Amino acid sequence: MPAIENKEVLISLMQKMYWIEAEMEQMNTWEARIEMMDENLEALEILSHDSERHGSIVEKWLRKANIEVPETIPKGLPKHIFDFEGLSSPEIFSRIIKYEILAMNAYKDMLNTDPGIIRALFGNENDRKEFLQDLEQLIKDEEKHTNICKKQIGGYLKIKY
Ligand SMILES: [Fe+2]
Repeated sequence: MPAIENKEVLISLMQKMYWIEAEMEQMNTWEARIEMMDENLEALEILSHDSERHGSIVEKWLRKANIEVPETIPKGLPKHIFDFEGLSSPEIFSRIIKYEILAMNAYKDMLNTDPGIIRALFGNENDRKEFLQDLEQLIKDEEKHTNICKKQIGGYLKIKY
C-alpha cells in the first residue's frame, strides 16, 4: 500500500520539507556562537550545506507542480526548530539527528506515493522519473547525515527512534 494516497498530503509534506531544509541550512549560523571542536564544526558545515542543496531540489519540484513555495512556517511545524544555546556538541547532534531521520522518512513516504498522484502533479514523464530519482538520492543523503550525527554523538547519548 502506498504511504501517500492523497494529493494534499503530498503537497503539504513537500512544503514542510522545504521549510525544514531551509531551517537546517541555517544551522551553520550557530557556528560562531557555540563551542565546538573542528570535527564537530565540519560535520555541521556538511549538514548545513547539503540542506541548502536539498531545499533547492524540493523547491524545484514545488515550482514544477505549481505549488506555492512557503514563505511562512507551514502548519504543524514549531517556530524555532533549532536552538542550540547552552548545549554540548553531542546534545546538538542528538537534536539534529531527529530531523535527519524525520527527513529520511518523509522522503521515503514521498517515494512511496500512489503513482496516480505523481501523474496528476507532473504531466511530463521525464519529470516523474527525475522526481523519483531525486527522492532516492535525498533518502541516501539523509541516511549519510544520520550517520554523521551518530558519529558526533558517540557513546554519549542513547538515541531512540
Ligand atoms: Fe539532512
